[in-house]
Amino acid sequence: MLPEISRSMLKNALVLGLFAIATVGSVALLQQATASRIAAAEREAQVRALGEILPAGSYDNHLLDNRIEVNARELGQRSPQSAYLALKDGAPSALILPVTAPDGYSGAIHLLVGIFADGRVAGVRVLGHKETPGLGDKIELAKSQWIRSFDGKSLSNPGAEGWAVKKDRGEFDQFAGATITPRAVVKAVHGALQYFDAHRAQLLGLAEDAQ
Ligand SMILES: Cc1cc2nc3c(=O)[nH]c(=O)nc-3n(C[C@H](O)[C@H](O)[C@H](O)COP(=O)(O)O)c2cc1C
Repeated sequence: MLPEISRSMLKNALVLGLFAIATVGSVALLQQATASRIAAAEREAQVRALGEILPAGSYDNHLLDNRIEVNARELGQRSPQSAYLALKDGAPSALILPVTAPDGYSGAIHLLVGIFADGRVAGVRVLGHKETPGLGDKIELAKSQWIRSFDGKSLSNPGAEGWAVKKDRGEFDQFAGATITPRAVVKAVHGALQYFDAHRAQLLGLAEDAQ
């Protein structure tokens, strides 16, 4: 026979234990539900961002389902990242490459560069940067239309000389009081076109060994 006080302690411990189990269980359930909602929202945001780069009608696949891994120094990458292959009627129509410009005013600028199969730029968007608000942040579409100046450009239009900001006798505008940021982005987009040109068949899945 347990003394009265021990029995009461046992009962309290039991109640406390059950309460703890119920709490941990419900937190775990909530966490699971939230995680899958966050994953779905992230996927939706990715699809929206990728869809902004390529014109509607230029592809008919789900871009997130046609990823390839790229890890190229020429693209400023230090680890494997996903590129997205756009297909139209089963044939490659464009590729979206993850590109990092390492030499922004305040460090790396992360971009997505969409390139049509024929080597023209489909669109460029900034994924992340630490440039100065009011100066370097005009690379964001939300702040200015500058990033659209790459649309339709290629390695031959303009030629190598033109792939620079106007201050360096190139074709692209710099910003008032901010040349370093646009210079870094122009260089990175030009580099992405050169990389695409050198590895086109492999990137588009057209090379013999990519089959
Ligand atoms: C506080 C501060 C923040 C700046 N932020 C940027 C920036 O984000 N991007 C940029 O290109 N230049 C920025 N600049 C200006 C650069 O230092 C540089 O003067 C400008 O880019 C012109 O470069 P250039 O001499 O090569 O033409 C900043 C300057 C200061 C003082």
